[in-house]
Amino acid sequence: MSIKKIYPKATIGIFGGGQLGRMLAQAAKKIGYNIITLDPIPNSPCAQIADEQIVAAFDDYGAAERLAEQSDVLTYEFENVNADIIEHLEKKGNTVFPSSTVLRITQNRIKEKEFLKKIGISVTDFRAIVRRSHLEEAKEELGLPAMLKTATGGYDGKGQILLNTEEDILDVPQDLFLKELIWERYVPFIKEISVICARGASNELITFPVSENVHRDNILYTSTVPARIPAEVEKKATDIARRISERLEVIGVIGVEMFLCEDGIILVNEIAPRVHNSGHYTIEACYTSQFEQHIRAICGLPLGRTELLSPVAMINILGEGKGQGGDFLVGVEKVLSIPGISLHLYGKERARAGRKMGHLTVLADSVLEAVSRAKKAIEMLSWE
Ligand SMILES: Nc1ncnc2c1ncn2[C@@H]1O[C@H](COP(=O)(O)OP(=O)(O)O)[C@@H](O)[C@H]1O
Ligand SMILES: [Mg+2]
Repeated sequence: MSIKKIYPKATIGIFGGGQLGRMLAQAAKKIGYNIITLDPIPNSPCAQIADEQIVAAFDDYGAAERLAEQSDVLTYEFENVNADIIEHLEKKGNTVFPSSTVLRITQNRIKEKEFLKKIGISVTDFRAIVRRSHLEEAKEELGLPAMLKTATGGYDGKGQILLNTEEDILDVPQDLFLKELIWERYVPFIKEISVICARGASNELITFPVSENVHRDNILYTSTVPARIPAEVEKKATDIARRISERLEVIGVIGVEMFLCEDGIILVNEIAPRVHNSGHYTIEACYTSQFEQHIRAICGLPLGRTELLSPVAMINILGEGKGQGGDFLVGVEKVLSIPGISLHLYGKERARAGRKMGHLTVLADSVLEAVSRAKKAIEMLSWE
């Protein structure tokens, strides 16, 4: 596929104004592009960096068309954008990367797993669940424990229930069935890892070093690189990400989340058709960040190097949402006195509990040192 080359200061349109859009905009602005974002919330994290924001709902066709008219290429920073709108824009001749085909597969957990199986990549056993009786059937066939998830629309563990017992099955709230669900066999993984991969013009394909990820309450807590895994697992994980990117024919960055199980077995958990939280470390620890790679890829430009420059740990700064106010971050000065630390705040107004407000990256001589400093730093921060 030949893709149109887009040079600065052309305009890149981004659906979604969250932190991923913000960091994409920062990378794009560095190279001199113009940025327009579309998001329903005024002064979104991305808008604070972008040249312009269209304030509109994600299902507003008129607003999407306006974004497209002003942009030379379009992209999105989250997978819950309206795929019908993206396809509509493509049919009108606009360029959107990744394509609506990629989006449709990756925004539905069932389609995604079926695609992975089709290309020979292992996933946990699963069943589509449409009505309550299907829960009993899935339990008979796959057993407990299981994760019950909405097939679409979930993020940061939202729309997920861990089922351990028969009781838990009975307790599944009825309104969950308003959406299509997926039953996944619970994976007793040893580690969670991920690979960020970028595919550009002429099949150019790069991967970043594997990240080792720890989640808390289903939200990413830390990413550390290099991952403490054998070389052959690193290679296998990288090959999986490359195969997915090629077979999806993605233009741009994807994040592939994986479970590493006993005997070096890797199961793919999910694919994000966008830059990924576990790739934030690339801003400081790699030659070219995941954000810049995405911008280069969708603009048809050569991709950059991905080698790791230093052991690194990334830790998310989450909102606590407690007490009155609670939106002002205290402890910044102490944190910045830690050697090798980098603070990122996304400019969100309200620090709601569990909300991703920013992140810290620590470069150090070893992964252990980096992660220990990152954890010490996060303890110094609080919302007041
Ligand atoms: N089938 C599963 N078995 C074990 N743990 C799981 C399973 N599915 C999800 N999890 C845990 O929950 C986290 C979030 O789930 P995920 O499917 O990645 O949803 P999200 O889109 O919210 O990131 C995972 O990173 C993992 O820690
Ligand atoms: Mg996930």
